[in-house]
Amino acid sequence: MKRFYLTTPIYYPSDNLHIGHTYTTVAADVIKKFKKMQGYDVYFVTGTDEHGQKIQEIAKKNGLSPKAYVDKIVADIKELWKVLEIDYDTLIRTTDTYHEKAVQKIFTELYEKGEIYKSTYKGHYCTPCEAFWAESQLVDGKCPDCNREVHLAEEEAYFFKLSKYRDRLLKFYEENPDFIQPESRKNEMINNFLKDGLEDLCVSRTSFDWGIKVPFDPAHVIYVWIDALACYITALGYGTDDDEKFKKYWPANIHLVGKEIVRFHTIIWPALLMALDLEIPKKVFGHGWILFEDDKMSKSKGNVIYPEPIIELYGIDAFKYFLLREFSFGQDGSFHREKFLQRLNSDLANDLGNLVSRTVTMVEKYNEGLVPAPVEEEDLDNSLKDIAINAAGKVEDYMDKLNFSQALEEIWKLIRRTNKYIDETTPWILVKEEKKDRLDTVLYNLSESLRIISILIKPYMEKTSLEIRKQLGLTGDILWEDAKAWGKLQAGTKVEKGNIIFPRLDIQKELAKLNEANDKLIQERSKGKKGSKVEDVKKEEEVQEITIDEFAKVQLKVAEVLACENHPKADRLYVLKLKLGEEERQVVSGIKEYYSPEDLVGKKVVVVTNLKPVKLRGVESKGMILAAEDSEGNLSLVSTLEDIASGATIS
Ligand code: MSP
Repeated sequence: MKRFYLTTPIYYPSDNLHIGHTYTTVAADVIKKFKKMQGYDVYFVTGTDEHGQKIQEIAKKNGLSPKAYVDKIVADIKELWKVLEIDYDTLIRTTDTYHEKAVQKIFTELYEKGEIYKSTYKGHYCTPCEAFWAESQLVDGKCPDCNREVHLAEEEAYFFKLSKYRDRLLKFYEENPDFIQPESRKNEMINNFLKDGLEDLCVSRTSFDWGIKVPFDPAHVIYVWIDALACYITALGYGTDDDEKFKKYWPANIHLVGKEIVRFHTIIWPALLMALDLEIPKKVFGHGWILFEDDKMSKSKGNVIYPEPIIELYGIDAFKYFLLREFSFGQDGSFHREKFLQRLNSDLANDLGNLVSRTVTMVEKYNEGLVPAPVEEEDLDNSLKDIAINAAGKVEDYMDKLNFSQALEEIWKLIRRTNKYIDETTPWILVKEEKKDRLDTVLYNLSESLRIISILIKPYMEKTSLEIRKQLGLTGDILWEDAKAWGKLQAGTKVEKGNIIFPRLDIQKELAKLNEANDKLIQERSKGKKGSKVEDVKKEEEVQEITIDEFAKVQLKVAEVLACENHPKADRLYVLKLKLGEEERQVVSGIKEYYSPEDLVGKKVVVVTNLKPVKLRGVESKGMILAAEDSEGNLSLVSTLEDIASGATIS
């Protein structure tokens, strides 16, 4: 059987995975389903990238050991992939013992081969990116990746002889023109990194210890990118006692990655593989980013869109369809909820949903629920058949280029053509005119076209595909090849009308619902209530005791509410003007469902005043109002302070 190995990146364990993160995984999952239908033996690896200084620092801030911190977050990531019905074969964790041992083996082998050597590193270090930069690489003296401050650092370190691979890499690119996709990313790699030569790569750190130790020099931990990239082979058993899968599936057919990590996958990774005398993957595809109204999504900007509310309200198929149809995979795109709802109405309810319900209803009404045998053909039928039997080939071509959007457009051309066929053939008039032979043919052609459509959409929308097949009375395996032949649907099959697959929506009403659900989740996660992974870990590790000095760091003050307005973009939030003695400040608070503005204006509340300011859906909030919530969901502001002047300190 033909084999196909594909991977997503190995994800940082973040408690904030948003729709952007799900993009790579959803795309990989669709590729897997598509290839499987084509008869491939597919292996799909994803994972979590759990080592490094950043994780060590966050865990410490949360009063946890790094392992306890990542364990809980990884459990939630797995839960998210479950919600998204991601059918991976292995989710590798860089903290898995078999992986750690294999990475140590790889490092030792490279050292013994002379590919890794020990020296001293002097450079500018960016802590958040865990990267050393040469002076010439800095932009305005700051980190070229994240634009944050760097500091001079010097340490004894191990280096990988990356420089010696420059020419081999260029030659490899030339001989394998499909290796880096899209094409523009290849040019970026050549012009920005390879043209002027490569420097050796520092592959160990001594400034922290949350990582895989260099086995023969344990003061050093192995650079996180070597650790993470190696997952692609260790997940298959490379470097372990059981490397059967490695022998079977390597080299990877596709590494799917976001555009910002193409450099690691197309320069460092192939060079490491060359040094290990292993085959190079066939393709690295660098997809674009999903932005929020042209801006990068981030928790601190308060503009994160989570997948869970969308899926809960509209289902997994609508979510996946939109992600892959709306954006061009290689390019950035902006996520607009309104566009999502519009597509739901136009593509899913109007085009597909209507076709299913019209077809099944007519077969029920005009032929007692049985698919008739075609009798009287007309020229007009050929144009429908033509589009139908050629759609699968076109979808294949686009899927080979990972052009999901055009692949779906090809399927929708057939859906729209079939709807048009109903309008052209007007079955209700054929009934009136008692043209039974022609009516039978039209009903057969409609049902047959729908059968083909149900196969074509399966990799993208499995539930919908199965529902259509149920309504059409189809049972048995769903084979891709069956989408290429006309006439496979047996006359006499009993159809069964079911629910409307995508009901039409009132966009404005749904928009409000969707915004509210997303805002609620942002609030919950930022307040550390239900759904906050970090808070849950804390609970599990027992309540953290703090010293009086630590408590003293929290500045609490009495404030008087001067004004209270609705947040312009978020239904559940108020924007409050507060008076703290002489000072006035603005705080955004999610207490709208519990208090009316009249209840609040004039009230004294308790505010955490030295909290870092944040923007909540575009509005700045400087501080947080304290409230208590019981297990029934009742909420009450902390306030018995009416006789105290605003601005008073609470201690
Ligand atoms: N740990 C590294 C990968 C190591 S692979 C050997 C990493 N992890 S990540 O969690 O930050 O990113 C995982 C994937 O999510 C990346 O492909 C990244 O591009 C993708 N995305 C994160 N935000 C995104 C959007 N807003 N839009 C699209 N993809 C985005 O990088």
